[in-house]
Amino acid sequence: MKIQTQVQLKPFNTLSLNSVASHYTKIKNTDDLLSAIDYAEQQSLNLLILSGGSNMLLPEHLHALVMHMDIQGIEVAAEDALSTTVRVGAGQVWHDFVLWTTAHDMFGLQNLALIPGLVGASPVQNIGAYGVEAGEFIQSVHVYDRNEQTFIDIDASDCKFSYRHSIFKDDPNRYIITHVSFKLLKKADLKLNYGDLKTAVGDNLTAENLQNQVIGIRQSKLPDPAEYPNAGSFFKNPIISQKAYDQIALQFPSLPHYPQPNDQVKIAAGWLIDQAGWKGKKLNMVGMFHKQALVLVNYDNAALHDVRAAYHAVQQDVFAKFNIALEPEPVQFDENGMICSH
Ligand code: EPU
Repeated sequence: MKIQTQVQLKPFNTLSLNSVASHYTKIKNTDDLLSAIDYAEQQSLNLLILSGGSNMLLPEHLHALVMHMDIQGIEVAAEDALSTTVRVGAGQVWHDFVLWTTAHDMFGLQNLALIPGLVGASPVQNIGAYGVEAGEFIQSVHVYDRNEQTFIDIDASDCKFSYRHSIFKDDPNRYIITHVSFKLLKKADLKLNYGDLKTAVGDNLTAENLQNQVIGIRQSKLPDPAEYPNAGSFFKNPIISQKAYDQIALQFPSLPHYPQPNDQVKIAAGWLIDQAGWKGKKLNMVGMFHKQALVLVNYDNAALHDVRAAYHAVQQDVFAKFNIALEPEPVQFDENGMICSH
């Protein structure tokens, strides 16, 4: 394990924020992980786990040990008549893994093609798209438990997966994810319920076609971080009570909404932002993408304070028009590498 100092993290976060880490190391295996934890303890540094950097807001200076997760490998761990279980290193690129499953006739994750980031981050916010969430196919998550100082496997049923949430968000400093096991189907069960996916897939009802259509839809709406640095959906879709929705719908009947369990309704943050006049609008170097108002873009060399100014302005305008508070999706870090509130 090699520790580097004063490392620029701009290439490692998809919003391309300037952020210089006092200490940085790559984690290629579990031995590297244990050495890095020892080092951080000796130097009294906090640990910051960097995965694909697609969901993070980093400050300009970070006094912490950044652990860049790079554990590779995909192995078949078990098989039965209906499913195949694969154990995947946290550093594996998510999209490459999805393509690999499809090529090997393992089904379930095709709707999640082209989501940026690495496999190790997928359970953290239970990544989801087009009617599927990763948690539906995760069998267990392999972690280092910093409280118990040991490696353990956490069964999916104990991960408390829900919309963009899991125990890894509740207790962000406790677990370091090293591998994730997925139980995938041998026979495809295509999920086509979301929006215009069914039309896009048409009569060619194969998992490969579904995957290609999802890729096409994402490419047509979502900006490529290499061209427009961004962190995907910047805000969560708010979940409100049926009563609150009925009230808003009187004034805004075209607000896209999706019924949820427990008398709740999920509403489209992108629509709210769009209607509040922010689609394609900028505040200095930061703005909301012209093709999808839910995606915040760093158009120049913005720092965290520029991003904050822009998303606070969006939140204010949406609140003023709809009386709804938007909650950012990316995780924000302070100068000591600790997660902080928005
Ligand atoms: N809409 C607008 N204007 C916009 C954007 C959206 O009116 O500028 C409307 C759309 O017309 C649609 C509704 O809002 O009726 C929802 O939009 P869309 O289908 O594009 O999906 P989303 O709710 O904006 C969510 C996820 C995405 C995921 C898509 C597809 C969240 C926060 N976002 O977006 O996830 O890809 O559904 O499942 O749940 C991500 O998390 O980074 C992400 C991209």
